[in-house]
Amino acid sequence: MKPVIFAGSSNLPLAKNIATSLELSLGKAEITRFADSECRVRILEDVEEKDVFIIQSLANPVDENLMEFLLLGDAAKRGDPRRITAVVPYHGYARQDRIHRTGESLSAHVVAKLIESVHYDRLITVELHNESILGFFEIPVFHISGFTPFKPLVTQIKGDIVVVTPDAGALKRSQKFAESIDAPLALIEKKRDLDTPHKIVSMKVVGDIKDKTAIIFDDVIVTGGTLVNAAYLLKEKGAKQVIAAATHADFVGGVDKILKDAPIDKIWVTDTIYIPSDKKFSKLEIVPIAPFIASEMKKMIR
Ligand code: R5P
Repeated sequence: MKPVIFAGSSNLPLAKNIATSLELSLGKAEITRFADSECRVRILEDVEEKDVFIIQSLANPVDENLMEFLLLGDAAKRGDPRRITAVVPYHGYARQDRIHRTGESLSAHVVAKLIESVHYDRLITVELHNESILGFFEIPVFHISGFTPFKPLVTQIKGDIVVVTPDAGALKRSQKFAESIDAPLALIEKKRDLDTPHKIVSMKVVGDIKDKTAIIFDDVIVTGGTLVNAAYLLKEKGAKQVIAAATHADFVGGVDKILKDAPIDKIWVTDTIYIPSDKKFSKLEIVPIAPFIASEMKKMIR
């Protein structure tokens, strides 16, 4: 039986590209809102005994997109499918993966439990902020590496390359990236003001970056603060060229201008999150993620 793919509204172009890669079209679903903003979802396909996939990026506005995604899962489950797979190209709340200050919630854990509460059977996701989040799930999680899509672009760079981890938290993922392209690693020591979201207090670079192309690898760009500050520091310390590679572009207003004006030569992102045309600019290269997600889904389709 053919699988049925439904999409939430956060990134319809990506969902369509994934479906096209699998030679399928998107299943029909109604997603509307009541006047008081409550979300209402209705599946308009017969899913009985079928494999169902629900695609939704948990990007800004994250809570709205999360609710839509949970209701889609619940609506589909009520049609008695064989199995429902959650396809979450960008997993919001992943940065709240531990308790940074006493009294905080463990939000990434809460989101994992919410996903399981509507009976998703499996999850496919891309570049989780921290792989330890996998442990918050009882269901199987298929994790697609966020740097694989950038590897063909690396081969176009001439001269010495160094992968730069923008903070200690990103060390493991940058290490894996550096190993996969056989490049050395440098580290930026970043200190944040934990009481003010997105505020960086200080940055130091450790490692040899002089006269090299420095590729800063991060999971997500939000305000651009991490990458822009790192780029200034790397150029000041003698990097020949700075490339920012970040899997998810969860751009807030104004970030396109900040990135355009920063001493960053190229910015590589994927389209796990929808990027409207007014947020695109010439040094931004968007690598399609659909083939990677579709190939993971293909392995699951009987
Ligand atoms: C932080 O731990 C994350 O990995 C990213 O570096 C951070 O969220 C990027 O945010 P921004 O663009 O606001 O600096």
